[in-house]
Amino acid sequence: MPESPFSYDVCVIGGAGHVGLPFALVCADSGLRTVIYDKDSEKVRQIRSGVMPFAEEGADEVLRRVLPTGRLAVEDRPDLMSQCRFLLMIIGTPLDEHLNPSFVAIDRVLESAREHLRDGQILILRSTVFPGTSQRIQRYLEDLGLSIRVACCPERVAQGYSLREFRQLPQIISAFDAETLAAVRGLFAKFTPEFVEMEPMEAELCKLMTNSWRYIQFATVNQFFMLASECGVDFDRILHGCRHNYPRMAGMPGPGFAAGPCLVKDTMQLAAFSHNQFMLVHSAMLINEGLPSHLIGLARSRVDLGQATAGILGMAFKAESDDPRDSLSYKLRKLLVLEARAVLCTDPFVKDPRLVPLERVLAEADVLFVATPHRCYRELPPLEGKVIIDIWSCLRTSETPAETDEAVASSLPA
Ligand SMILES: NC(=O)c1ccc[n+]([C@@H]2O[C@H](COP(=O)([O-])OP(=O)(O)OC[C@H]3O[C@@H](n4cnc5c(N)ncnc54)[C@H](O)[C@@H]3O)[C@@H](O)[C@H]2O)c1
Repeated sequence: MPESPFSYDVCVIGGAGHVGLPFALVCADSGLRTVIYDKDSEKVRQIRSGVMPFAEEGADEVLRRVLPTGRLAVEDRPDLMSQCRFLLMIIGTPLDEHLNPSFVAIDRVLESAREHLRDGQILILRSTVFPGTSQRIQRYLEDLGLSIRVACCPERVAQGYSLREFRQLPQIISAFDAETLAAVRGLFAKFTPEFVEMEPMEAELCKLMTNSWRYIQFATVNQFFMLASECGVDFDRILHGCRHNYPRMAGMPGPGFAAGPCLVKDTMQLAAFSHNQFMLVHSAMLINEGLPSHLIGLARSRVDLGQATAGILGMAFKAESDDPRDSLSYKLRKLLVLEARAVLCTDPFVKDPRLVPLERVLAEADVLFVATPHRCYRELPPLEGKVIIDIWSCLRTSETPAETDEAVASSLPA
């Protein structure tokens, strides 16, 4: 990198978050002088003391390794931002109460950053943003009279596996001019070898379309599952028939809860961008969000729920994760509370005072729902005497053989 007037290379804004923190760790571990700026003082305190605020494969070790090097500053105030050449924004981009994108979080960051912005910096948008956002921010900066260039490089890692994936996945990079694009490429080249160059609007759409595509695929297979289970047919056997040694269906996912902090939100952003003419995504949402109710219907046909204790195994939004954000397990719980005599929930990773140990759920529940396919549920001995609603085919009974390879593959973390 050419000699720089800045004393740090990168400031990760939202750097204590699920994507920002692994990114900051990779930067610091790759030799870049890195600043984490996050308004969440508690997470900042934890990170400074060498503790990861959430589970992320390999991150504890990297954090312990980079802190003593002095290459990682962890701040809950934006002051160091002015000393950083690259500002990488990776804050949450939620929906509002109308399922439309909310720009409040981004506007707040820009407002708080304002006095720390300096000519010559490059602002990289790493959050998943509504199409046109990069252009809007570029104009905003120009209107302030600042010579700061905007780039859009959407994040595509699977949460929980970021450190590995940062180094493996091609990076989508985009900017409004060639010089900025080259600078961004130089930054990412510190830890990743492959790039896909685009225009900013293309990059914004590419990310939203990727997540919408996955969400629609999950909805399609969930609809197939509902069709089969309504007429008492074992969908696992159909899935096996569809995929077995048949390359054209190799990518067909298994059924299961499709939720979490990104898929629904990003799909709805694209719907909003299409002025609500993208009917397919609204149908996908109805199917995916309707799955908990369908599963309760399956249980109802086998047991008097009003007399039964229901147990939910897994509250995280995906396997081996400790993240309950937007998890459909909680929707399942909410619906069951209205109907069952009692509801007991468990999860080995999620911190929630309402959860109880797995042993208690197994002992007391009459009907068991597997909501998150954590590995530990696959390892349980065969369960007898329970009604089991297991869309992931995790649990074994004396009638169900050990899971098929396809069943395991289909429930790997998103
Ligand atoms: N979670 C994923 O798997 C994933 C994958 C790819 C892309 N994304 C996208 O990445 C973005 C971030 O997602 P996330 O899951 O990391 O969210 P997160 O909520 O875990 O992290 C966001 C962080 O930003 C901080 N923050 C918010 N406003 C701030 C402000 N004004 N100043 C300083 N810090 C601020 C928060 O305190 C938080 O720590 C979203 O756009 C998301 O769609 C997420």
